[in-house]
Amino acid sequence: MVLQILPSLLAADFGSLADEIRRAEASGADALHLDIMDAHFVPNLSFGPDVVALSRRVAPGFFRHVHLMLTRPALYLDPFADAGAQTIQIHVEADCDLHAELSRIRSRGLRAAIALNPETPAEAVFPYLGECDEVLVMTVHPGYGGQSFIADCLPKISAIRKRAPAKDIMVDGGINADTAIQAARAGANQLVAGSYLFGQADMAAAVAGLRQACTDALRQP
Ligand code: DX5
Ligand code: ZN
Repeated sequence: MVLQILPSLLAADFGSLADEIRRAEASGADALHLDIMDAHFVPNLSFGPDVVALSRRVAPGFFRHVHLMLTRPALYLDPFADAGAQTIQIHVEADCDLHAELSRIRSRGLRAAIALNPETPAEAVFPYLGECDEVLVMTVHPGYGGQSFIADCLPKISAIRKRAPAKDIMVDGGINADTAIQAARAGANQLVAGSYLFGQADMAAAVAGLRQACTDALRQP
């Protein structure tokens, strides 16, 4: 599996968003993770399609991963696709016809992903594995950056990896130099990091460090 590192824009300085997007792109990270919150599915609001469009404008070649933490994602798939989302992630706990919406994401030419909250068992996503390109395992309760990694979620990553050996598995929440290694060893190959990466004076060194640490950890028996 290809290891990917994705800075989460939620942890950026919102006073300098364009510069922060350029900083993330220049760091050598693989894609930008954009967290969309509706104050209903999660107890917080973040930003909407305009920020996805801003990302496309200032960094057109930087892949845009859109994580929808919305109760009713079906209402917003088209606005986010129109704004430049390239992967759209919807939650298995959302109020929608998941088969239909995953298919609609793909029919727009985008990668489709299914996300699951810490308390949701791995089995909940099994019926959708054939219809999505990646699975996002939340390792914090969604809604806020800067929370502590929930290690109890690690066996869930392993269970999904066992069931879907070739699928991209993303881990999101509380990722830093230590927890990235734990997640990669459990089977995740896409690592989202918000506060850890945006909090660095040298984001490029931190991205390279995460990549090297995970690659080394995976080489060890
Ligand atoms: C949480 C979001 C995460 C968040 C991660 O609801 O889905 O993407 O930005 O932030 P850190 O890496 O700070 O835990
Ligand atoms: Zn996220």
